Amino acid sequence: MEKLVDTSKSIYDKIVNKMTKHLDRLSFKKVIDAGSGKTSASLALKYFPNANVDAIIFPGDNRKKNPLENAIGSNRLDVIEVDICTTCFRRKYDFCFVHLTLGEAQKFGNSFENLFHQLMDIRADYFLIIDIFEDPCVHFRYVEQYLKEKGYKILKRKKFKNPNPEHYPKVKHDKYKLEFDSKHYVAYLIKRIIQE
Ligand SMILES: C[S@@+](CC[C@H](N)C(=O)[O-])C[C@H]1O[C@@H](n2cnc3c(N)ncnc32)[C@H](O)[C@@H]1O
Repeated sequence: MEKLVDTSKSIYDKIVNKMTKHLDRLSFKKVIDAGSGKTSASLALKYFPNANVDAIIFPGDNRKKNPLENAIGSNRLDVIEVDICTTCFRRKYDFCFVHLTLGEAQKFGNSFENLFHQLMDIRADYFLIIDIFEDPCVHFRYVEQYLKEKGYKILKRKKFKNPNPEHYPKVKHDKYKLEFDSKHYVAYLIKRIIQE
């Protein structure tokens, strides 16, 4: 029996379910949770019950590693500590989950653009990106422009109201500290259609 976090009442569960329900989720065998934590890893294991999940965290990010290891018990989960910005992922994946990762690029010394490009270079057939609409560190217009130019197809784009907004008082953005409230989430389901 697997031990997962019960996400059934969370907005993230609703978003993932809604965004992926038309995919053949049972057929997915390899999933990457790019920027992992106990919530996204549990969602990946729940919605892709036949897949192995590679859970990527920044090296030494014990904020995420310890809760992941304590809250989840599954032999389908591998926790991998690497910097996405300096790693070439050789494996092919059916699905890449990018859940609240983009806003943390600068926390680990990377630029938003570099982290985003590296994520989109992961060899996955589908991507699900979910992030906070109000987060000043996440450049949604850039995301859409890049996907269009590079030949990815946005299958679905949806905005969701957050029933429990949080206040973020000091978010580092370039040389500024900014504040915002997480009132909405934006989700993109993307298909890779570029030839390798
Ligand atoms: C806000 S947390 C994501 C939470 C998680 N998806 C969840 O739902 O529980 C951001 C994650 O992205 C990871 N991350 C950020 N930049 C990274 C990088 N350059 N390489 C690897 N992981 C990175 C952090 O280590 C952390 O696991």
